[in-house]
Amino acid sequence: MNILVTGGTGYIGSHVVVELIKRGHTVDILDNLFNSKVEVLDKIEKIVGTKPRFHKADLLDYDKTLEVLQSSKFDAVIHLAGMKAVSESVEKPLEYYENNIYGTINLLKAMNETGTIRLVFSSSATVYGDKGVDSAHLMETMTTGVGITNPYGWTKAMIEQIIKDVSAANPNMEATILRYFNPVGADQSGLIGEDPNGIPNNLMPIVMKVYQGKLEKLIIYGDDYATRDGSCERDFIHVTDLAKGHLAALEHSKPGVSIYNLGSGKATSVFEIVNAFERLSGRPLPKEVGARRPGDLPVLCADPALALTELGWKTELTSEDAIRDTLRYLNNLE
Ligand code: UD1
Repeated sequence: MNILVTGGTGYIGSHVVVELIKRGHTVDILDNLFNSKVEVLDKIEKIVGTKPRFHKADLLDYDKTLEVLQSSKFDAVIHLAGMKAVSESVEKPLEYYENNIYGTINLLKAMNETGTIRLVFSSSATVYGDKGVDSAHLMETMTTGVGITNPYGWTKAMIEQIIKDVSAANPNMEATILRYFNPVGADQSGLIGEDPNGIPNNLMPIVMKVYQGKLEKLIIYGDDYATRDGSCERDFIHVTDLAKGHLAALEHSKPGVSIYNLGSGKATSVFEIVNAFERLSGRPLPKEVGARRPGDLPVLCADPALALTELGWKTELTSEDAIRDTLRYLNNLE
C-alpha cells in the first residue's frame, strides 16, 4: 500500500513508519517538525534501507495539505500529527483545539477531496476519563468524555466524534481509531526513540533525562494510592508493539468506524518501572516521593481482547524490553 503518515517524524510516527516499510509498504510523511527532527529520516533509512518521502507541511495549511494528498494515490492515511503535552494543553487550550481539531478537519477535507477513504487515527486511553474501579480494565464499549481533565484529552475525544460523523456521511470510509495506553521504549536498533523538545511530562522521558543528568531527580507522584505498592499503575506498551498495531489495523480495515485499545492488559506500577530501570541500567536514579499529581488516576489498564479477536494483534514485548531498548537508544545518543 501507499501510505501517508502525518506526524511520521515524531516518536510514535517514526516507529510506525519503520514497521510499515519493513512490511513492504511505501510511505510518505507529512510533518511540520514542531516536535521532531528531520534527521529522523536518515535514522529510518539506516534501519530499513529506504528513506520515506518527506513533506514539510502543517495541517493547519489546507492548500498545502491538499497538495500533499494529491501528490500520490494514497491507499491510507495514518494520522498521528498533533500536540500531546497534557499540562501545556491546560495553559494553551486554544492552541490545542486549533492544532489538533482544525488540523484533523483539514486532513479529512483533503481526504474527501482526493477520494482517500482509509484512515487510522491515533487516539488515547485518556478519552475514557475517570471510570473508577473499571479503569483497571477499560473496554472500547465504555462511554467516553466524562471525567476528562484536560484540553488535550478533549481534543482526542472530539476528533473521535468528528471521525464518526464524517464516516456516517460517507459510507465508503474505513476509519480505525486506536486508543493508545502508555507507549514506552525505542526501536530495537537503538537508532530512534523518544526525544522530546523541552521539559517532558511523561514518566519514561523524565526517567531518561534524570539518567542522562539533564534533570536533577525524579519525583514519584504519590506512594499512598490504593495499589499494590502505593504508586500509580499504568499499561505500558512497547512502541514497536504499538506500531505493529497500526499495521494490523490497516490490514483489517473495513467500512465504518472501528475502535481498538492498544495496550498489553497488564498494569505495571511507577515503582516497578523505576526499579527495573535502575536494575537494567546498573545505577540508581536520584529520586524522591512527592505529592500526588492532580488528575492522576490510581490504575489505568486496557482490556486488549477486542484487538486480539478482530485484528489478531497483541503485545509481544514487555516493559523490561522497552527499558532495555530505551537504554540502547540513550547510550547511542551519548
Ligand atoms: C498521560 C495523560 C494521557 C496521555 C499520556 C501520554 C493524564 C491524566 N494522562 O498519561 O492523557 O495520553 O500521558 O502522553 O495526564 N509520574 C511520576 N513522576 C513523573 C511523571 C509521571 O511519578 O515525573 C507518574 C504519574 O503520576 C503516573 C505515571 O507516572 O502515575 C505515568 O504518567 P505519564 O507518563 O504522565 O502518563 P499518564 O498520566 O498515564
